[in-house]
This record gives sequence, structure tokens and C-alpha cells, in this order.
Amino acid sequence: MIQKFRFGTPIETEATAAALPAISVNCAQDAAALAAYVNLNLKKGFTLSRTLADDDAVYGLGEANRGINKRGYRYVSCCTDDPNHTEEKVSLYGAHNFLMVIGKESFGLFIDYPADVCYDIGYTKQDQLTVTIEDTNLDAYLITCGKESGTDSCPASPHPCADASTPDALCIIRQFRELIGTSYIPPLWAFGYIQSRWGYMDEKDIRRVAKGYRENHLPLDSISMDIDYMEDYKDFTVHPERFPDLSALSAEMKEQGLHFIPIIDAGVKIEKGYDVYEDGVKNNYFCKRADGTDFVAGVWPGKTHFPDFLNADARKWFGGLYKRLTDAGIEGFWNDMNEPAIFFSEEGLEEAARKVEDLLKRKDDPKLNDFWAMQNVFNINNDHADYKRFYHNMGGKKIRHDKVHNLYGYNMTRAAAEAFDTICPDKRLLLFSRSSYIGMHRYGGIWTGDNQSWWSHLLLNIKMMPSLNMCGFLYSGADLGGFGSHTTRDLLLRWLAFGIFTPLMRNHAALGTREQECYQFEGLDDFREILKLRYRLIPYIYSEFVKAAQNNTLLFSPLAFAWPKDKAACEVEDQLLLGESLMLAPVYQQNTSGRTVYLPEGMLLVKFTSAKEYTLTKMDAGWHYITCALNEVAFFIRPGHLLPLCPPCECTGELDYTKFELLGEAGTELSYELYTDDGYTKDIKQHGKFIKLAR
Ligand code: GLC
Repeated sequence: MIQKFRFGTPIETEATAAALPAISVNCAQDAAALAAYVNLNLKKGFTLSRTLADDDAVYGLGEANRGINKRGYRYVSCCTDDPNHTEEKVSLYGAHNFLMVIGKESFGLFIDYPADVCYDIGYTKQDQLTVTIEDTNLDAYLITCGKESGTDSCPASPHPCADASTPDALCIIRQFRELIGTSYIPPLWAFGYIQSRWGYMDEKDIRRVAKGYRENHLPLDSISMDIDYMEDYKDFTVHPERFPDLSALSAEMKEQGLHFIPIIDAGVKIEKGYDVYEDGVKNNYFCKRADGTDFVAGVWPGKTHFPDFLNADARKWFGGLYKRLTDAGIEGFWNDMNEPAIFFSEEGLEEAARKVEDLLKRKDDPKLNDFWAMQNVFNINNDHADYKRFYHNMGGKKIRHDKVHNLYGYNMTRAAAEAFDTICPDKRLLLFSRSSYIGMHRYGGIWTGDNQSWWSHLLLNIKMMPSLNMCGFLYSGADLGGFGSHTTRDLLLRWLAFGIFTPLMRNHAALGTREQECYQFEGLDDFREILKLRYRLIPYIYSEFVKAAQNNTLLFSPLAFAWPKDKAACEVEDQLLLGESLMLAPVYQQNTSGRTVYLPEGMLLVKFTSAKEYTLTKMDAGWHYITCALNEVAFFIRPGHLLPLCPPCECTGELDYTKFELLGEAGTELSYELYTDDGYTKDIKQHGKFIKLAR
């Protein structure tokens, strides 16, 4: 059951797809149903708290740092451009305010509020969950399973919890996902391997990458183009010398089975004569300062204006501009810098200069000891003070950015997706974003931003996948190999061995880092076989993906949700279920030839030594050490389930759906319902079909 509580007069976020009738909270009594689960305090802002039992786990928060169980730390929902995701960071690029307390009395909460939301989940006091917001205008949704009130099944929906044995977590997630609407489904080719790098400067670089993959028979579907394809980092322009004919290049690549995925940044360069800038200014499509002038922020192009994506007209205008690239044969985009990232504002710069002047005046003062202040003078990058310096026009209302900060990237992506409905009404295009809020999952996917070539970030990638799924973000993935710092061959191989299971499988690296295309390393066979295995898995991953989108379930699930009564399964966070058949146990530590794995039930260990060769070993429930060399991929098939594998190939255009190898336990009759479609038609309900594969 879902109950919606309206506090004050919230800003409409359009996070939910269905409008639920709300209980307006005017006095404590109105929120009695919510107060049965949490303590509410509305005296100074909004505070919601609850004492956690020792074995309560807290799940959710989507793109957040640390573990799957969020207990023991604090998090702040505030879309943040921070490329150093060290353990202490409390905010990443997305703001996903859904969480669940799972224990004796399980429930879910969705706090629909578009600015900062602080979660203290056993950080200040080990047994206290506290959610605080400075404001008191918000919608809070309480999601329960109905079991505790004496009913056996989940009342919200006929299918998910029809069986009273459905774990609470899955029951709550299904209801929440129904509320927020069906997740975005990309075209099939988006499940192919993507190579990316900041620093592919021209056509020659792109051709070199294509050649590096094709000549070495390393599978590849797409090359993503970073800001270097643009002219002076101007959105919707293509550099005339470096990329003289994008249509021709795109056609040439398509002949090789390759797609381009250009980046689009949020900030529009301020430049006289640049039509996007001129049109935006003329039509008041940019975010404004309090005095009505267009706000100026420094980003990659230098000084920019921010399109007001919260203004429906500006959204329509900006979305329409993608046509300039779709007309050149482009079918996929990544939206970036849309938290929005602000390297500096003019106001911030002036303030910093004033501080320097003050310090200079005191330079002969022997008592000058403001060491930290000095260091922070030019720390004006992504300064929250800037969020109070510009405004949006939301349906005629002037709203300061800090009050709606987390909706910005969401609405940039929505602008594109809504335009695609007109630009190509029948075809699915690929779209993913860096910043997001719940609701954006209906319009596109996300990548998890600027990680580093660190082993700890491979583990973070593993742990984040289920939380993203809980919040509706199914098409997601991290920069494989790591974006910042120099990768190593073994890290890339291990990361790819996990990445072959993530819907978005993209190797991306920062300017100045070691080149990390697979062909840059010794022992290409190892890379080739792992990539080919990805292609063998695509029919299963795509099928499970579409099922998860349509049934509001998880593609990646923590073991805790399948075996809630098994303490070890509940605590294992470095193994994941993938769809109905698989359990993954990726190796994520350097200089290891395997890892310890916990099997909540007997399973079949599958170990691929090449894309075609594998061993199957039946294993009992319990703890095991499994070996897995750098060039191997090991995972498990659950009892009673099948894994269909198509023949290896080098791009999705070559996928062969007529010859499946069916892996599963010997001696038992097994079957799998494979979802398939043409890979691009939008109307999946009409065009998709299920094929029963049996053995
Ligand atoms: C941002 C993006 C990164 C991109 C870079 C240059 O840091 O997160 O993926 O490569 O900008 O555009």
C-alpha cells in the first residue's frame, strides 16, 4: 500500500507517473499513518526519525556512496560534480530519495523534494535513522506491504506480492516503481560494448579506434564522442576542420556496425553569432539572476548560460536542437555537466578576489595565520552559494535554483527524450545522463560519472547497481577501467569481467590518462574473449532488462532480497543476482587468483576460459573459494534456471537469435522465457514477443 502525505505546498517535481490522492498534513493527526513508522518533527524544518533495531537494514538511495545496506553513514541528496568519490563523500551526481527499512517491520519511504535531503543512517547514533530537510514543503510517500496489518498480500498491485512469501523489499520496490513509472528501455545496440575517451580529437582518432577494434576482432558497437567533436565546446556544433562531414563519417561507421554517441553539455557558450546562444537570450530561455540578467557560469566552453530546463518552452527548444545531430545519422547521446557543474561564477570569482585583496592587505601582519582560508579562497568550483544566484521560470513562477537543484539534469534529459518522440516517433534512441532525480528513469539511463581507476571503484560499481535499479535506473553502468588516473591491464580485465553484465557497458577515460582501449594492452586474446562473452550474454541481459522494466522488478538484486532469512546472504554485498538465472561473484582485488563466494543454495559454477569454452561444476550451499584467473569469467546459475547464450559475435548487428546454447544443471528439465523484439521499435508491448527455450 502507498500513502502520500503532503506537507505545505511542494514544488511539482513530476517524479511520479501516477498522481496519488494526497493526505494534506495540517496537524499531527493527519500524518498518523506515517507516524506509526517514524517520528515527525516539523518545528524547525522537516525531520523524520526512527529507532532502528539491530538487524534492520536500510536500502535504497540509488546513486550513493558506500554499501548496499546504507547503515552506518550519512548521505545528502544533492546532485554534485565531484570526480573524487572517496569513502567520506556524501553526495554524488544523482539525487534518489527512496529508501527502505527492512526488518521486523519493513517499510519504504520516498521523499519527493527537489533540494537537499540529509540522511543520517546510524552515523550520529548507531540506532537512529534521521531524515532532515530545511524546508517543510514536500511530499512523503509511505510504502508498506500490508502483511503487518493482517493481509497476506500486497494490496497495491495484483502481480508482485500475490504470494505472501514475496520478501518485503521486493514488494515495496515493486509498488514504488509502479508509482514512478516504467523505466527507459534503450535500443538493443545500446547493450553492445562502447569505447569512449575524452580526447578523440578528430576523424582520424575515431577511425583509429574503429580499426583497433575491428582489425583485432575485438567486439564493439559504439564509440562515444566527448566534447572534442564540438567547435569550441559549443553544443550542437561539429568542428568543421576536425570533423568535416559527420554524416559521412557516421555512415562509414555504420557500415562497420558502429554507432556514434556524442556528448551534450548543459552550459551554452556565450558567443555572439552562435545561434543557440542568440536564440536562448532572445527568448529568455536561460536561467536568470535576481535582476533579470542571464546568469553566467564557467564550464568547459568558458563562460556559459544555463538553459532553463525547468521552463517547458526552453525544454522544447533545447530538445529540438538534438535534431541537428540526429539528421547526421546520430542515434544516441550522453548528457553531461548537468548537476549543473559550475567551475566558477562571476560573483564567486569577485568574492574570491576580494578575499585575496584582504589577505594581501594583511601580508605584513606577523599574526597572519589564516592558512586554511588561504587554501580555500579559490575553491569556487561547484560552490553552493552559486545555487542561490540564479532562478528558473517554472510555469511563470520565479524559483531560485537551490530550491530545485536536483531537478536540473533530470529535465535536461527529459528535454531530449521528449524531443525524440517528435524527431523519431517510432524508434528508440540511446540517451543517458550524468545527473538525475527519480522520474528521469522514464526518459534515459545514467552513467555513474567520473570514477577513478581504483579497485575500490570497481567494488563501488558492483554495490551501486542494485540501488540504482531500486530507484528505476535500469540502464546504467560505470566508466569501465576507471575515468580518472591511470588504469592497469588487470584492473581493466577484472572490470570488464563485471561490466559484461551491466546494461551500459562503456570503457571511458579522462584526458591525460593512459590510453585504455582494449587493443592498447598486451595479450589481446584475453580482452577479445571477455568482450565476445558479453555478446553471447546480450539476449539474456536484454530479455531480463525488459522484463525488469515492464514488471517493475530488479535486474540486479542483492542476495538479501532473495534470502532474507539467511544472515550470511544478507550481509554479502559483493555478489549480486542478475535476472532470474544468474548470481555474479566478480573478482575485484588486485593480485588475486580467485575469491571467496557464499552460496545460499546449491548452484552451478560456470567458468568461461574463453568465449566458447567453459566448465560447469555443481556446488553445494555454503562458503567456497573459487579460482578465477585474469582471463576467465566465473559466475553461477541458480537451480531450476537456464542461461541462454547466443553464438559469439563482434557487434549487435550480428547477434544470432536462432542458435542458443542452453546452460543449466544436467539431468533436469529446464526452460527460459526469452523476450525478444526488433531492438528499436518503441512500442514494446505491441512488438515484443516471448520465446520459450527449453532443454
Ligand atoms: C566530465 C564527464 C566526463 C567527460 C568530461 C569531458 O568530467 O563526466 O565523462 O569526459 O567531462 O567532457
